[in-house]
Amino acid sequence: MNTIKVAILGLGTVGTGVYKLIQKRADVMERTAGAKLEVKKILVRNMQKKREGVEQELLTDNWKEILEDDEISVVIEVMGGLEPAKTMILEALEAGKNVVSANKDLIAEEGHVLLDTAQKNQVDFLFEAAVAGGIPIIRPLKQCLAANDISEIVGIVNGTTNYILTKMTEEGMDFADALKKAQELGFAEADPTADVEGLDAGRKVAIMASIAFHSRVVFFNVHTEGITKITARDIAYAKEFDSVIKLLGVAHNTENGIEVGVYPMMIRKEHPLASVRDSFNAVFVHGDAVDDAMFYGRGAGEFPTASAVMGDVIDVVRNIGYGCTGRISCTCYKDLPIKEFGQ
Ligand code: NAP
Ligand code: HSE
Repeated sequence: MNTIKVAILGLGTVGTGVYKLIQKRADVMERTAGAKLEVKKILVRNMQKKREGVEQELLTDNWKEILEDDEISVVIEVMGGLEPAKTMILEALEAGKNVVSANKDLIAEEGHVLLDTAQKNQVDFLFEAAVAGGIPIIRPLKQCLAANDISEIVGIVNGTTNYILTKMTEEGMDFADALKKAQELGFAEADPTADVEGLDAGRKVAIMASIAFHSRVVFFNVHTEGITKITARDIAYAKEFDSVIKLLGVAHNTENGIEVGVYPMMIRKEHPLASVRDSFNAVFVHGDAVDDAMFYGRGAGEFPTASAVMGDVIDVVRNIGYGCTGRISCTCYKDLPIKEFGQ
């Protein structure tokens, strides 16, 4: 059986989950991917940090060591941020390496550049984990629902804010304590402002809208409001109306153009999205053929996110086996107009 050598860029919440999953489920990986997986290098920033359960000799802070290693055919980018992640991904793709990434910040801004580069070099660039953690949503939008004219996507796509709102509603916890707990559990971004101000959800909406509407929606197009102004009084007020407050990401493809936004909303307790608690996410999609479809699961955290990353890695390894990497083009955009939100 072939051995595919991979490098992991970043060993934080997600990188650690990916590393552990590769070790723990080696048999399943072999069975499903048709090859053995070996982690050859892991890029970190701080070489002095204690990393329990990870062999020290795998660690490096030198990107070139990975880039110039011809044995490494898959790079898993889970470090986050725009730079140096963008440069590293582009260099890896140009060097003929396949890339799997969870980096929604980058994909929501530069996804088209990364996809075009992957296609040009006949390699894969996959990013299932960038939206809604462990929930399969990118692949369903790109493939399973490809026969549909999708008109609407509505969802809870940020685990941190859903966790905070759940704790405020059900346990009367205050905002700051709930955020601290979400950070401890590894749900929040390095800078949690991105979560609580709706920016992270906005990036995910931009990515989903681009794929679902075959268009080019970037984060700049998304109207964003967060939950920092939600008070205990708002929560109590919602309860009086048999409702809960949820941070929703919304994308509509209308006759007049695409409308994309993120905002907190009061929803009735009977609504399916009202029962999505803690760090769980849910995405509702309406297509002309499928009608309504809903995707539900853990939207953040070590193993749920690693699960999505590894699904992509297995796909890449299979494609390497069949000699068909870079086969699925995502670059067939129509340039649809983007509407001002709420106009
Ligand atoms: P994290 O815990 O902050 O970990 C980031 C890791 O990347 C750290 O190990 C860090 O190294 C390394 N790193 C950062 N900048 C680097 C640089 N310039 N050079 C080398 N290494 C660098 O982040 P995370 O929560 O795992 O998230 C990683 C990515 O996954 C982000 O794009 C995030 O948006 C995405 N994501 C996260 C989740 C989640 O639930 N956490 C879910 C879906 C997607 P040191 O350890 O040396 O500091
Ligand atoms: N910070 C993100 C969240 C991680 O809370 O949803 C998953 O993308």
